[in-house]
Parts: sequence; C-alpha cells; structure tokens
Amino acid sequence: MILAIETSCDDTSVAVLDAQGVVLAMRSAHQDDSHRPFGGVVPEVASRRHSEVLLPTLEATLGEASVDWPQIKGLAVTARPGLIGSLLVGLVTAKTLSLVHGIPFVGVNHIEGHLVAALLRDKTYAPPPGFDFPYLGLAVSGGHTHLFICEAPGRYRLIGQTVDDAAGEAFDKFAKMLRLGFPGGVAVDRAAAGGDVAAFHFPRAMQGDSGFNFSFSGLKTAAQRTLSELSEEQQTNRRADLCASYQEAIVSVLVDRMVRASKQHKIKNWTVTGGVSANSRLRLRMAEVAASAGATLALPPLRYCTDNAAMIGLAGLYRLQAGESAGQELSPSARSLVTDWTHT
Ligand code: KG4
Ligand code: ZN
Repeated sequence: MILAIETSCDDTSVAVLDAQGVVLAMRSAHQDDSHRPFGGVVPEVASRRHSEVLLPTLEATLGEASVDWPQIKGLAVTARPGLIGSLLVGLVTAKTLSLVHGIPFVGVNHIEGHLVAALLRDKTYAPPPGFDFPYLGLAVSGGHTHLFICEAPGRYRLIGQTVDDAAGEAFDKFAKMLRLGFPGGVAVDRAAAGGDVAAFHFPRAMQGDSGFNFSFSGLKTAAQRTLSELSEEQQTNRRADLCASYQEAIVSVLVDRMVRASKQHKIKNWTVTGGVSANSRLRLRMAEVAASAGATLALPPLRYCTDNAAMIGLAGLYRLQAGESAGQELSPSARSLVTDWTHT
C-alpha cells in the first residue's frame, strides 16, 4: 500500500491506495472559508492551514483505511507545480515520514495526477470499459488548461496549453465581475441554469488555428466591455443569459480542441479532469460529442476531479513500481519541469 499527500494549493488531502491503484481511504480538508474574505487564495493563509490540518488528516485517513505504518511501502507527494509554501508543507512531511519509516517516496507533478485520475478505482468508481492508455487528457482548473496525449504511465505528450489565463481563472474572473462570490466557477455554472447560450456573443479565441493552444484573456476583456454597456439592473435581470453565454464560449473552445485532437491523432479515449471538469455544461457537451465521435469518455467523480491525494497516489504508484524514488534534496517548484513531459 502507499500513502499520498497533496497540498499544492488550498486543499489538504491524504489518501491510501493498494498496489492495484484502488483507493482504500481519502480525506480532504478544504480551505474555502479561510480564503473567502479575501476573494481568492492567499498563499500565506494556505500554507498555515496545511500545517495545521495535514497531520490530523493523515491520522484520520490511516484510521479509515484500517492501515498501520508497517503496511505502507511507499509515499507519493505533490512536488510541483503549485504555491511554494503549500507544496513545502506536504513535501517536508513526506520526506520526514520516509526517513522515520524507512520507505521510499516520489515527488509527483500535480498535473500528472489530474491526468491519471480517470484510472482510479474505488467501491463506487471505475473507468469506463475499454478506457486505457493511450488517451487524450484535458486538465482544466484554476491554474492549468493543458491538453495531453497520455501515452503510458509516466509518458505524457503536451500538445496544447493556455497562452494566458486558465479556464478556471476565466470563470472566477467573470464571477467577480458579476459579484457572484468565491469560488466563482461553480457560481457561474449555477447562475447559467436556464440561460440562453446565444444571448450574448463572446469570442472563441484561436478557434481557426491548426494547433491545440487556448487563450482566455480576450474573453475576459470582451466580458468587461459587455458588462460596461449594461446597467446593474440589466446585469441582474440577464444574469442567466450572461453566464450561459460566457460559459458556452469557454466550453465550446475546450470541446473543439478535444474533437480536433481526437481526429488528428486518432485517439478515441478521452478524459477531462481538474476543477473545471465539474462544470455541468462541459460534462454534458463532452459526453454529447464523445458519443457522436464514437469515443469513450472517462469523467471521474468530482472527488477525483478537484485537487485530491488519490490521483497523486496513482501517479506515484506507477513511478514507485517503475523503481523510481526521490532523494531528500528534492525541492518544490512553482512550475512544471521541461522534463516532466514530451513537448510537441
Ligand atoms: O482543480 P481545482 O480544484 O484547483 C486548481 O488546481 O486550480 O480547480 C479549481 C477551479 C476554480 O477556478 C473553480 O472556479 C473551477 O475550478 N470550478 C468550476 C466549477 N467548479 C469548480 N468552473 C466551472 N464550473 C464549475 N462547476
Ligand atoms: Zn489541480
């Protein structure tokens, strides 16, 4: 069995997995209440909260899995990308546990975790039949919008990414403009219910390009312009239409890249993961286009889509089983390393 720790941003999460990648227990502590007064994640607050809750979360997870330290044969911890202070709390803890218990640990790239989340298993989730490597993995969250060909465990080819804002950031900024509260993505999703997706026109950047990159900063500027032309009352009355139209601009770009990548690379296994994959419209549209393209779509449950330790555990398990282990000198990094992926 292995124990995994994720503290890259504002969720403290610990999981225990068996050698087949089955999640035996996972506990996560969210910090939304601590950051809400500031309207966004405050790095110092995040790392302090991780320090306070990580050890109790770890104890509770081991207890829930009914597992003792002698049964744990390896550790996986998120080493990058993320907030340095937050990453440090998890990494120092994993290094200490590795020394104390004499077991190996590996540092995992957080995005790699998101990519393999579709392959997790537990009592109620398993990937759809036939879903396996190679597959297209779209990781969309507050910090990343990356499209990969996941060739094999540990082998990921980055074929597209955002050139400016992440998709989640675009949701959060729009929520702020409309004063919908924090975190914003889910508020936009809810407010869009019943709205007309074609009521307002928002740009779909790089739609005609042959590559697979994304850009969301123009969308934000267009939204500012649209809102400046409406009174506060109009913004309130047309909130559902505004949110549905804005959401559609993001969703249609994400769907477009997946469909084109699938055609060009002839890959019919798809997964969408990361916080934005909780979006109801994105889930619906991806499922529709996957069905018409004859593709198998793995949409993990939300507990494995948002930041969680189980996905870090599975990525770490692949690495440990391949004989990898990290040294005490491993340091956290705010960014991914060029060696984390193959670039095209
Ligand atoms: O993966 P995640 O939990 O943390 C990061 O690594 O960033 O993703 C958080 C992001 C936030 O931007 C949040 O607004 C967005 O995911 N999000 C959503 C929804 N739920 C969360 N965006 C759109 N629709 C949702 N339902
Ligand atoms: Zn994430």
